[in-house]
Amino acid sequence: MNIESIVFENNTLRIINQKELPQTFKYITLSTLSNVIDAIKSLKVRGAPAIGILAAYGMYKHAEFLYSKNQLNINNLTQAADALKSSRPTAVNLGWAVDKMMKAFLKYSGSPIDDVLLSKLKETAVNIHLNDKNTCASIGKFGAQLIKDRSNILTHCNAGILATGGRGTALSVIYEAKKQGKNIHVYVDETRPVGQGARLTYWELTKNNIPATLIADNMAASLMQLNKIDSVIVGADRIAKNGDTANKIGTYSLAVLAYYHQIPFYVAAPLSTFDFSIESGGEIPIEFRNKEEILAFWNIDNKNDYNVYNPAFDVTPNHLISGIITEKGIIKNPVELNLKQFYTN
Ligand code: MRU
Repeated sequence: MNIESIVFENNTLRIINQKELPQTFKYITLSTLSNVIDAIKSLKVRGAPAIGILAAYGMYKHAEFLYSKNQLNINNLTQAADALKSSRPTAVNLGWAVDKMMKAFLKYSGSPIDDVLLSKLKETAVNIHLNDKNTCASIGKFGAQLIKDRSNILTHCNAGILATGGRGTALSVIYEAKKQGKNIHVYVDETRPVGQGARLTYWELTKNNIPATLIADNMAASLMQLNKIDSVIVGADRIAKNGDTANKIGTYSLAVLAYYHQIPFYVAAPLSTFDFSIESGGEIPIEFRNKEEILAFWNIDNKNDYNVYNPAFDVTPNHLISGIITEKGIIKNPVELNLKQFYTN
C-alpha cells in the first residue's frame, strides 16, 4: 500500500488524520499556522520526523499568508517559529526543521523580490520532506543487515510510514528485510496510553503485508522469557551526544528487558534526531500530556478525583542500546564511544 502521511501538492498541505485510524483513513487539509499547530498538539500527525516536515510546511504557508497581508518580516515569522517549536517539546526534529526554515528566510530575505523568498521557503520545506524520504530508505538498507531470516521483532509506538516522510525508521528496517526475502513477523506493543502501536503500527504493517501480532505492553517480558523475540527495534525523538535516547514512554522498560534477556535492542533514527548540544539524556525535555489520555480509555469522567502521571516519553541510557541505525550507517555498541567517533569524523 502506497500511502504518505503528509502530502504537499499544488501548494496544498494535507495529512492523514491519525486520530481517526484505524477506523477511518482520511486526509485533511491544513491551511493555516494554527491548523498545523493544532494537528501537531492533538497528534493528528505525530512521530519525530513527520512533525518536523509538517512544521516546515507550516512555516512556508504562514510566510505566504503574511506576504499576502504585507506583513512578512522577521518578527512575525519568529513568532510562528516559537509557537511551532513549543507545540511539542521532546522531538528535536521539530526545532531542527523550523531552524532550517528561519535560516532560509534570513538568507533570502534581502532578495528584492519577495516571490523569490517565498519560492525559496517552499523549496526548503519540500527538500526537508524529500530528504526524509531518502533517509528512511537508507536507514532501512543499513538496518536490514541486522535482521536474520525468520525473525520475530518487537516494536513499540509507531516509527513507520505514518511517522515520517518515507517508509519510516524502525519499520523501514522491517520493510526492507521483507523486501530482501526475509521471513519476518512483528510483535506490536499496544503502546498505552495513546495506542500508537494498536491503532497505527498494526494497521500500517498489515496493510503492507507484514505478519503482525498485537500485544499489551505488559506482555513483552513473558515473550522474551519464552525466547519468542529475536530483536527489538524502535524509533527515537531525541538522541543526546552520549547516545541516551528519548522515545515513546515504555521504550526504556523494553530496553531493560532486552538487556536482561540478552536480546539486541536497536534504535533507528535519522541524524536530524541527534541533539549534539546536550551531553546526556537527563537534559532532554520530556513532554507531559493531559490526564484525559489515560482516563478516557476507562471511560472515567469524574476526572477531578484522579491524580494522573502521563509523560509521553522516557529516556533509554546508551549502554542498553545495541546499535543506532542511521542513514549514514550503524553506530554500534558501545554507542557512547562509537558515537563520539561518528560526529568528530
Ligand atoms: O507521541 P508520538 O506518537 O509522536 O511519539 C512517537 C515516537 O515516540 C516515535 O517512536 C518517534 O517519534 C520516532 S518516529 C520515526
